[in-house]
Amino acid sequence: MATKNYIPPDTIDEIRTNNNIVDVITDCGVQLKQAGKDYQALCPFHDEKTPSFSVSPDKQIFYCFGCQTGGNVISFVQKHEGKNFIETIKWLADRANISLPEGDSKSDEKQKLINGLSELNRFAIRYYHELLRTGQHSQQAREYLKNRGVISQTIHHFQLGYAKQQRQDLIKAAKHEGYTIQQLLDAGLIKNDDLGPQDRFWNRILFPIHNAQGHPIGFGGRSLSNEHQPKYLNSPATILYDKSKILYNLDKARQSISRKQAALLVEGYMDVLMLHQHGIENVIASSGTSLSQQHASLLSRYTPEVVIVFDGDSSGLKAAQRGLHCLIGEGIRVRIALVPDGDDPDSFVKEHGADEFENLIDKAINLIEFQIQSAIQDNSIRNPEVKTQVLMDTCQVIVNIQNRVERTEYVKYASKELDIDQSIIWRELRELGLKDIPIPKQFNRQNNSGKKLSPREQIELQFVQSLIQAPEFIPTVKQEFDINDIQDPFLGEITQILWDELETNEEVDIQQVLNTIEDEKFSGFITNALLNKKNIPSYDKRIQGCIVKLKTYLIQDIEQQVRKSSQSGNNDLDTLKELVNITKRRRSYVQEKQSEQQEKSDLSEIATDTPDNSKKIKEN
Ligand code: UTP
Ligand code: MN
Repeated sequence: MATKNYIPPDTIDEIRTNNNIVDVITDCGVQLKQAGKDYQALCPFHDEKTPSFSVSPDKQIFYCFGCQTGGNVISFVQKHEGKNFIETIKWLADRANISLPEGDSKSDEKQKLINGLSELNRFAIRYYHELLRTGQHSQQAREYLKNRGVISQTIHHFQLGYAKQQRQDLIKAAKHEGYTIQQLLDAGLIKNDDLGPQDRFWNRILFPIHNAQGHPIGFGGRSLSNEHQPKYLNSPATILYDKSKILYNLDKARQSISRKQAALLVEGYMDVLMLHQHGIENVIASSGTSLSQQHASLLSRYTPEVVIVFDGDSSGLKAAQRGLHCLIGEGIRVRIALVPDGDDPDSFVKEHGADEFENLIDKAINLIEFQIQSAIQDNSIRNPEVKTQVLMDTCQVIVNIQNRVERTEYVKYASKELDIDQSIIWRELRELGLKDIPIPKQFNRQNNSGKKLSPREQIELQFVQSLIQAPEFIPTVKQEFDINDIQDPFLGEITQILWDELETNEEVDIQQVLNTIEDEKFSGFITNALLNKKNIPSYDKRIQGCIVKLKTYLIQDIEQQVRKSSQSGNNDLDTLKELVNITKRRRSYVQEKQSEQQEKSDLSEIATDTPDNSKKIKEN
């Protein structure tokens, strides 16, 4: 089979016309009923009670009136089987006996190797499964599963197997079938040790692992006793098996996941089995590895939401953090469900049944709420250090959220629950690299309702506009002014853009800045400032006036905080000293400002009037 990625359009069309959409959809397990000249079915892509999924043999297309999914036979297979385009074309070509253009010989050889190993794995699954079902020496294994409540339908569905005590069983059987030692080694089924080649798995219950397309790629093996360690032994990495790309049971859960538009992620094989046995099928397991970027992008093909089910006593959440960020980065919503202390999903569903388990899933809360609520619950949130840490963790999550509306909602939520100003959260996000800061209503040119700017916002706005209108002052201002003293995140972001320009140039050329800005909000703001450039003689004084004002605000902030903490009982000598110090500093700033104001009449305008520019912005 060709592995080249380029397939001529004519061939693709030939493949499409030789795969009747009605037959293919039926092959994929959807039960079509004829209705007139079309066919109908319950939609495989969403949950429904009455059929709104329709297939037209004339037009060779499908469409669901319920979820508005539609397309031709190629798009159906892609979506339903979770294959990418090339995989789909190969699958359909195979189905219609159409040969694809030959790939180069090297990849053909690799394909041969892969096919051989897949076949060997299929053989091993059959071999071990048969031993479990009927083997003379498998009584103990059958007992073990029975005691754990695994019924025979489940054993059959997951093709569970058993590897006996002896360490040469599989080798003998496979050689007898014509497989080579090298193939067994390549598949990770045996290993070489002092005694020569030995079966990797012995005296273990085996869980066959498949990739998303349902091809067997490896095994997980459960020991039958505590003495036999490790508890679970998995296949090593092979050309077929890369654990950072594989999620246990994704092949079987795929359809249920796309129907429910949600996947439940659990930790272990037994959790998957037992939930399936209770009718909960959209379950996959990470099998003891942490979730990788590849896992996340694989999952994003099937579902917009993942509910992570953690054991009550699991320390898993902290370890899972990075993986969770990957999911969120792929645009997947993440919710957390907690199984009560002492249980895991397997034991919980056995004890309490499917309905109670579904309840846990319904109650699952969003990752951000989860982080904040757990900190609040253990009361440590009063501790400023903990609060800062929670804020940082939360921002790490928020910064990865793709959807702007959702992101803004969580900033509001975090601000309320943690009692932290929204602007501080936005500033933190900016530091984490978030570029997409929302344009505040009051600076939005489209916004006519225009909330009145606070005096501080007026000064910040005038400061940034002045920098844009008189960029020759930016190099000196950058040296003496701390960008974090700007409270408004949007204006802070604009200032950062101006500062960044100085990393590569000695001066800031605003036209140059405009050329490189991609975000319309920023270029809109900058253009507006340029249009409103005034013929005032002394931008220098105007900018300096703003800086003095902003520093005064900043010192007032600190003063207030210190006062607050001294009122709440932290009345030690250091705090008082700090208070006195700050009050002194503020006085000297105010004096400085006043003396400048007397000298330069310009500045009174800054302190009192609404600047013309901001008015223009609101009116446009
Ligand atoms: P757990 O220790 O939670 O086991 O490991 P479990 O799933 O509850 O298994 P039972 O109920 O005791 O049989 C969770 C998962 O971590 C992986 C396995 O995939 C397991 O299902 N694991 C665990 C290993 O790979 N190796 C181990 O030694 C232990
Ligand atoms: Mn368990």
